[in-house]
Amino acid sequence: MQVERELAGLQVTTQAWRAGGERIGLVPTMGALHAGHLALVEAARAAADRVIVSIFVNPLQFGPQEDLDRYPRDEAGDLEKLRRAGCDLVWLPGPAVMYPPGDATRIEPSGPAEGWEGAARPGHFRGVATVCTKLFMMTRADVAVFGEKDWQQLQVIRRVVADLHLPLRILPLPTVRDTDGLALSSRNQRLSPGERGEAARLPRALQALAGALAGGAAPQAALAREQEALTAAGFGVDYLALVVPDSLQPWPAGASGEARLIVAAQLGSVRLLDNMPVMISSRSEA
Ligand code: PAF
Repeated sequence: MQVERELAGLQVTTQAWRAGGERIGLVPTMGALHAGHLALVEAARAAADRVIVSIFVNPLQFGPQEDLDRYPRDEAGDLEKLRRAGCDLVWLPGPAVMYPPGDATRIEPSGPAEGWEGAARPGHFRGVATVCTKLFMMTRADVAVFGEKDWQQLQVIRRVVADLHLPLRILPLPTVRDTDGLALSSRNQRLSPGERGEAARLPRALQALAGALAGGAAPQAALAREQEALTAAGFGVDYLALVVPDSLQPWPAGASGEARLIVAAQLGSVRLLDNMPVMISSRSEA
Protein backbone atom coordinates (compact mmCIF):
# COMPACT_ATOMS: atom_id res chain seq x y z
CA MET A 1 0.00 0.00 0.00
CA GLN A 2 1.39 3.35 -1.08
CA VAL A 3 1.27 6.35 1.30
CA GLU A 4 1.55 9.81 -0.27
CA ARG A 5 1.81 13.17 1.49
CA GLU A 6 2.79 15.35 -1.50
CA LEU A 7 0.65 16.11 -4.55
CA ALA A 8 3.41 15.25 -7.06
CA GLY A 9 3.66 11.65 -5.75
CA LEU A 10 -0.11 11.23 -5.81
CA GLN A 11 -0.34 12.52 -9.38
CA VAL A 12 2.42 10.25 -10.76
CA THR A 13 0.48 7.24 -9.53
CA THR A 14 -3.02 8.36 -10.56
CA GLN A 15 -1.75 9.33 -14.04
CA ALA A 16 -0.20 5.87 -14.47
CA TRP A 17 -3.45 4.21 -13.35
CA ARG A 18 -5.54 6.30 -15.70
CA ALA A 19 -3.14 5.70 -18.59
CA GLY A 20 -3.63 1.98 -17.99
CA GLY A 21 -7.41 2.42 -18.18
CA GLU A 22 -7.94 1.77 -14.46
CA ARG A 23 -10.88 3.40 -12.69
CA ILE A 24 -10.19 5.15 -9.38
CA GLY A 25 -12.43 4.93 -6.31
CA LEU A 26 -12.02 7.48 -3.50
CA VAL A 27 -13.07 7.22 0.14
CA PRO A 28 -12.67 10.64 1.80
CA THR A 29 -12.17 10.37 5.59
CA MET A 30 -10.87 12.30 8.57
CA GLY A 31 -9.22 9.16 9.99
CA ALA A 32 -9.94 7.39 13.32
CA LEU A 33 -11.25 4.65 11.06
CA HIS A 34 -13.93 2.19 12.15
CA ALA A 35 -15.94 -0.61 10.52
CA GLY A 36 -18.16 1.98 8.77
CA HIS A 37 -15.17 3.40 6.92
CA LEU A 38 -13.94 -0.09 6.03
CA ALA A 39 -17.35 -0.84 4.49
CA LEU A 40 -16.84 2.26 2.29
CA VAL A 41 -13.42 0.91 1.25
CA GLU A 42 -14.98 -2.43 0.33
CA ALA A 43 -17.66 -0.68 -1.75
CA ALA A 44 -14.96 1.37 -3.50
CA ARG A 45 -13.04 -1.81 -4.29
CA ALA A 46 -16.15 -3.29 -5.88
CA ALA A 47 -16.87 -0.11 -7.88
CA ALA A 48 -13.35 0.70 -9.16
CA ASP A 49 -9.99 -0.89 -10.06
CA ARG A 50 -7.93 1.18 -7.60
CA VAL A 51 -8.86 2.56 -4.20
CA ILE A 52 -7.56 5.77 -2.63
CA VAL A 53 -8.47 6.60 0.96
CA SER A 54 -7.80 10.19 2.00
CA ILE A 55 -7.15 11.06 5.64
CA PHE A 56 -7.32 14.76 6.41
CA VAL A 57 -8.83 16.40 9.48
CA ASN A 58 -10.15 19.44 7.66
CA PRO A 59 -9.85 22.59 9.80
CA LEU A 60 -12.14 24.50 7.43
CA GLN A 61 -15.21 22.48 8.44
CA PHE A 62 -14.78 23.05 12.20
CA GLY A 63 -16.12 26.19 13.88
CA PRO A 64 -13.99 28.10 16.43
CA GLN A 65 -15.86 26.50 19.38
CA GLU A 66 -15.82 22.99 17.90
CA ASP A 67 -13.71 19.90 18.57
CA LEU A 68 -10.88 20.20 15.99
CA ASP A 69 -8.18 19.76 18.66
CA ARG A 70 -10.02 16.89 20.35
CA TYR A 71 -10.93 15.10 17.10
CA PRO A 72 -9.57 11.52 17.45
CA ARG A 73 -6.38 10.79 15.48
CA ASP A 74 -4.64 7.43 15.01
CA GLU A 75 -2.48 7.46 11.88
CA ALA A 76 -0.56 4.22 12.59
CA GLY A 77 -3.76 2.31 13.46
CA ASP A 78 -5.54 3.70 10.38
CA LEU A 79 -2.72 2.66 8.04
CA GLU A 80 -2.74 -0.87 9.44
CA LYS A 81 -6.52 -1.17 8.97
CA LEU A 82 -6.29 0.15 5.41
CA ARG A 83 -3.46 -2.24 4.55
CA ARG A 84 -5.64 -5.15 5.66
CA ALA A 85 -8.67 -3.75 3.81
CA GLY A 86 -6.86 -3.79 0.45
CA CYS A 87 -6.53 -0.03 -0.05
CA ASP A 88 -4.05 0.83 -2.85
CA LEU A 89 -3.04 4.34 -1.81
CA VAL A 90 -3.52 6.51 1.28
CA TRP A 91 -3.58 10.23 0.55
CA LEU A 92 -2.34 12.02 3.68
CA PRO A 93 -1.89 15.71 2.83
CA GLY A 94 -0.92 18.22 5.50
CA PRO A 95 -2.86 21.50 5.87
CA ALA A 96 -0.28 23.38 3.73
CA VAL A 97 -0.77 20.92 0.85
CA MET A 98 -4.55 21.20 1.04
CA TYR A 99 -4.59 24.98 1.64
CA PRO A 100 -1.31 26.33 0.23
CA PRO A 101 -0.16 29.88 1.07
CA GLY A 102 -2.44 32.38 -0.64
CA ASP A 103 -5.33 29.91 -0.84
CA ALA A 104 -8.49 32.01 -1.22
CA THR A 105 -11.15 29.94 -3.01
CA ARG A 106 -14.18 28.36 -1.37
CA ILE A 107 -17.17 26.34 -2.56
CA GLU A 108 -20.28 27.89 -0.99
CA PRO A 109 -23.18 25.43 -1.15
CA SER A 110 -26.77 26.46 -0.46
CA GLY A 111 -29.97 24.43 -1.04
CA PRO A 112 -29.57 21.21 1.00
CA ALA A 113 -26.75 22.88 3.00
CA GLU A 114 -29.22 25.30 4.59
CA GLY A 115 -30.77 24.51 7.96
CA TRP A 116 -30.12 21.60 10.35
CA GLU A 117 -26.32 21.04 10.51
CA GLY A 118 -25.88 24.11 8.30
CA ALA A 119 -27.67 26.25 10.89
CA ALA A 120 -26.01 24.63 13.92
CA ARG A 121 -22.51 24.78 12.42
CA PRO A 122 -22.15 27.95 10.30
CA GLY A 123 -19.52 27.45 7.60
CA HIS A 124 -19.39 23.68 8.12
CA PHE A 125 -20.68 22.74 4.67
CA ARG A 126 -18.50 25.39 3.00
CA GLY A 127 -15.56 23.52 4.54
CA VAL A 128 -16.86 20.10 3.53
CA ALA A 129 -17.72 21.15 -0.03
CA THR A 130 -14.38 22.91 -0.51
CA VAL A 131 -12.24 20.04 0.76
CA CYS A 132 -14.22 17.37 -1.10
CA THR A 133 -13.98 19.30 -4.38
CA LYS A 134 -10.21 19.58 -3.87
CA LEU A 135 -9.97 15.84 -3.06
CA PHE A 136 -11.99 14.93 -6.17
CA MET A 137 -9.69 17.05 -8.38
CA MET A 138 -6.45 15.96 -6.71
CA THR A 139 -7.20 12.23 -6.94
CA ARG A 140 -9.09 12.40 -10.29
CA ALA A 141 -11.48 9.83 -8.88
CA ASP A 142 -14.15 8.23 -11.06
CA VAL A 143 -16.29 7.38 -8.07
CA ALA A 144 -16.33 8.60 -4.46
CA VAL A 145 -18.05 6.65 -1.69
CA PHE A 146 -19.91 8.39 1.16
CA GLY A 147 -21.83 6.92 4.10
CA GLU A 148 -25.51 7.76 4.57
CA LYS A 149 -24.78 8.38 8.27
CA ASP A 150 -24.11 12.06 7.44
CA TRP A 151 -27.24 12.34 5.33
CA GLN A 152 -27.18 16.11 4.86
CA GLN A 153 -23.48 16.02 3.93
CA LEU A 154 -24.24 13.38 1.28
CA GLN A 155 -26.98 15.56 -0.26
CA VAL A 156 -24.68 18.62 -0.24
CA ILE A 157 -21.91 16.67 -2.01
CA ARG A 158 -24.34 15.33 -4.61
CA ARG A 159 -25.55 18.90 -5.27
CA VAL A 160 -21.99 20.26 -5.58
CA VAL A 161 -20.98 17.48 -8.01
CA ALA A 162 -24.08 18.07 -10.14
CA ASP A 163 -23.84 21.88 -10.09
CA LEU A 164 -20.10 22.01 -10.90
CA HIS A 165 -20.38 19.19 -13.48
CA LEU A 166 -17.60 17.31 -11.70
CA PRO A 167 -16.71 14.16 -13.66
CA LEU A 168 -17.31 11.56 -10.98
CA ARG A 169 -20.11 9.47 -9.51
CA ILE A 170 -21.13 9.65 -5.86
CA LEU A 171 -21.88 6.23 -4.42
CA PRO A 172 -23.86 6.29 -1.15
CA LEU A 173 -23.63 3.43 1.35
CA PRO A 174 -26.16 2.61 4.12
CA THR A 175 -25.12 3.48 7.67
CA VAL A 176 -23.13 0.79 9.48
CA ARG A 177 -24.49 0.26 13.01
CA ASP A 178 -23.25 -1.34 16.19
CA THR A 179 -25.11 -4.39 17.52
CA ASP A 180 -27.42 -2.14 19.59
CA GLY A 181 -28.23 0.02 16.55
CA LEU A 182 -25.99 3.05 17.27
CA ALA A 183 -24.57 4.46 14.02
CA LEU A 184 -20.78 4.02 13.95
CA SER A 185 -18.92 7.33 14.22
CA SER A 186 -15.35 8.27 15.13
CA ARG A 187 -16.75 10.60 17.81
CA ASN A 188 -18.51 7.71 19.64
CA GLN A 189 -15.19 6.89 21.33
CA ARG A 190 -15.60 10.09 23.37
CA LEU A 191 -18.83 8.79 25.01
CA SER A 192 -18.43 7.56 28.61
CA PRO A 193 -19.51 3.91 29.16
CA GLY A 194 -22.80 5.16 30.67
CA GLU A 195 -23.45 7.53 27.75
CA ARG A 196 -22.54 4.80 25.27
CA GLY A 197 -25.26 2.61 26.82
CA GLU A 198 -27.82 5.42 26.56
CA ALA A 199 -26.84 6.44 23.02
CA ALA A 200 -28.73 3.56 21.41
CA ARG A 201 -31.99 5.29 22.42
CA LEU A 202 -31.46 7.54 19.42
CA PRO A 203 -31.76 4.90 16.65
CA ARG A 204 -34.54 3.21 18.65
CA ALA A 205 -36.48 6.49 18.65
CA LEU A 206 -36.03 6.80 14.86
CA GLN A 207 -37.15 3.21 14.36
CA ALA A 208 -40.23 3.72 16.53
CA LEU A 209 -41.06 6.90 14.63
CA ALA A 210 -40.56 5.25 11.22
CA GLY A 211 -42.96 2.48 12.26
CA ALA A 212 -45.57 4.89 13.62
CA LEU A 213 -45.42 7.19 10.58
CA ALA A 214 -45.59 4.30 8.12
CA GLY A 215 -48.68 3.17 10.03
CA GLY A 216 -50.38 6.54 9.52
CA ALA A 217 -49.53 8.47 12.74
CA ALA A 218 -49.65 12.27 12.54
CA PRO A 219 -46.00 13.39 11.97
CA GLN A 220 -45.90 16.51 14.18
CA ALA A 221 -47.42 14.81 17.24
CA ALA A 222 -45.24 11.69 16.83
CA LEU A 223 -42.06 13.79 16.45
CA ALA A 224 -42.93 15.88 19.52
CA ARG A 225 -43.55 12.72 21.62
CA GLU A 226 -40.20 11.14 20.70
CA GLN A 227 -38.33 14.42 21.20
CA GLU A 228 -39.84 14.72 24.68
CA ALA A 229 -38.83 11.14 25.53
CA LEU A 230 -35.24 11.74 24.35
CA THR A 231 -35.02 14.98 26.33
CA ALA A 232 -36.30 13.19 29.45
CA ALA A 233 -33.57 10.56 28.93
CA GLY A 234 -30.85 13.26 29.00
CA PHE A 235 -30.34 14.05 25.29
CA GLY A 236 -30.01 17.70 24.26
CA VAL A 237 -32.07 17.39 21.10
CA ASP A 238 -31.09 20.05 18.54
CA TYR A 239 -33.58 18.80 15.95
CA LEU A 240 -35.70 15.77 15.21
CA ALA A 241 -37.43 16.32 11.90
CA LEU A 242 -39.10 14.76 8.91
CA VAL A 243 -37.67 16.08 5.63
CA VAL A 244 -37.70 15.66 1.87
CA PRO A 245 -34.72 13.30 1.34
CA ASP A 246 -32.67 15.23 -1.23
CA SER A 247 -33.54 18.89 -0.54
CA LEU A 248 -33.74 18.58 3.28
CA GLN A 249 -36.83 20.82 3.16
CA PRO A 250 -39.39 20.13 5.90
CA TRP A 251 -41.81 17.42 4.77
CA PRO A 252 -44.99 19.11 3.46
CA ALA A 253 -48.09 18.50 5.62
CA GLY A 254 -50.38 15.88 4.09
CA ALA A 255 -47.79 14.61 1.56
CA SER A 256 -47.11 10.89 1.13
CA GLY A 257 -44.10 8.97 -0.20
CA GLU A 258 -40.49 8.41 0.86
CA ALA A 259 -39.25 10.87 3.48
CA ARG A 260 -36.22 10.98 5.78
CA LEU A 261 -36.12 11.28 9.54
CA ILE A 262 -33.08 13.25 10.71
CA VAL A 263 -31.86 13.87 14.24
CA ALA A 264 -29.01 15.66 16.01
CA ALA A 265 -28.66 15.41 19.77
CA GLN A 266 -25.97 16.20 22.30
CA LEU A 267 -25.04 13.44 24.75
CA GLY A 268 -22.27 14.47 27.13
CA SER A 269 -19.61 16.12 24.96
CA VAL A 270 -20.67 14.36 21.76
CA ARG A 271 -23.06 15.59 19.08
CA LEU A 272 -24.76 12.46 17.74
CA LEU A 273 -26.29 12.44 14.24
CA ASP A 274 -28.55 9.82 12.75
CA ASN A 275 -31.22 9.42 10.08
CA MET A 276 -33.58 6.81 8.66
CA PRO A 277 -35.80 6.41 5.62
CA VAL A 278 -39.54 6.36 6.24
CA MET A 279 -42.51 5.75 3.95
CA ILE A 280 -45.29 8.20 4.75
CA SER A 281 -48.59 6.56 4.10
CA SER A 282 -51.31 8.41 2.20
CA ARG A 283 -53.68 7.77 5.13
CA SER A 284 -51.42 9.61 7.61
CA GLU A 285 -53.06 12.46 9.55
CA ALA A 286 -51.55 15.90 8.88
O1 PAF B 1 -17.44 12.82 6.68
C1 PAF B 1 -16.25 13.16 6.87
O2 PAF B 1 -15.46 12.42 7.45
C2 PAF B 1 -15.78 14.51 6.36
O3 PAF B 1 -16.78 15.46 6.44
C3 PAF B 1 -15.19 14.45 4.94
C4 PAF B 1 -16.24 14.02 3.92
C5 PAF B 1 -14.02 13.48 4.88
C6 PAF B 1 -14.68 15.83 4.51
O4 PAF B 1 -13.68 16.28 5.36
